Amino acid sequence: MTILVTGATGSVGRHVVDQLLARGANVRALSRNPAASLRARVEVVNGDLLRPDSLRPALTGVDRMYLFPVPDTAKECVDIAVRAGVRRIVVLSSDAVNTRYEIAGDSIDDHLAVENAVAQSDVEWTFLRPVAFASNTLFWAHSITTEGVVRAAYPDAAQALVHEADIAAVAAVALLEDGHVGGRYTITGPEAITQVEQVRTIAGQIGRDIRFEEMTPEEKHAEMIQYLPEDSVRMILGYFAIAVTNPDPVTPAVQQVTGVPARTFAEWVADHTSYFQ
Ligand SMILES: NC(=O)c1ccc[n+]([C@@H]2O[C@H](COP(=O)([O-])OP(=O)(O)OC[C@H]3O[C@@H](n4cnc5c(N)ncnc54)[C@H](OP(=O)(O)O)[C@@H]3O)[C@@H](O)[C@H]2O)c1
Repeated sequence: MTILVTGATGSVGRHVVDQLLARGANVRALSRNPAASLRARVEVVNGDLLRPDSLRPALTGVDRMYLFPVPDTAKECVDIAVRAGVRRIVVLSSDAVNTRYEIAGDSIDDHLAVENAVAQSDVEWTFLRPVAFASNTLFWAHSITTEGVVRAAYPDAAQALVHEADIAAVAAVALLEDGHVGGRYTITGPEAITQVEQVRTIAGQIGRDIRFEEMTPEEKHAEMIQYLPEDSVRMILGYFAIAVTNPDPVTPAVQQVTGVPARTFAEWVADHTSYFQ
């Protein structure tokens, strides 16, 4: 059995490759960059999900696939994969599709487009719907290392940040084992902690004080709009506003699927301290 991992150089995909290899699976990695370097020794095959025909060489002999979500061409990619012999697809989706946040806008449509393309095909499927990744806090790395400060809005927004390795662990089980076909897993960390607590956790791990400077939502909006589309900024800030009074619900998905508790945010920071020092 050969498993194709798309998005293999991404924050989740790298872990999917590593964990499948650790479990003895035969893995092939897709990248748009033929010289992509991955931690693991793995066959890297060139292909672009926006150019579905380019996937044919990567799909030769493939039975199962981890699908990084590229909505515009999802249907064509799935059709080509099914014709090439793929029988199971595990999709990286998002908690946004759970529509707890009406403000999620394009993100809901994009992820649903990919889920629907897969659900309407003749394959076994599992949808991974993670909440916010712990790696989003890497956005703070620059101001922490240079000024010892985090500037953010909604300090009391409580998130159940998920370690990317846990999303990958669920993916690996769903790809390799039976019992997860048709699963729609909302994947979270083990606890919801506020942004202030997140900063305190990072400070504790690196052994330095970090100041939290609260921004108004308007100030944060003005900052974010410089590097993100308006729809994304509204979605992210709307999510934080809700999370002040409605912390991310914690789900047991990681423990139930993998048999191991979800990693804490402190564990994620311990795996990434070099970024904050
Ligand atoms: N951040 C969050 O809090 C969060 C929460 C829930 C869901 N999500 C979803 O998770 C996804 C991001 O996952 P991630 O962090 O693992 O991704 P990532 O780190 O952004 O990496 C994605 C990888 O996918 C590959 N890729 C991108 N476009 C491609 C294309 N057209 N064809 C082939 N490969 C392509 C790229 O590899 P190459 O350059 O090597 O081709 C890239 O390294 C997004 O869809 C996001 O909506 C994120």
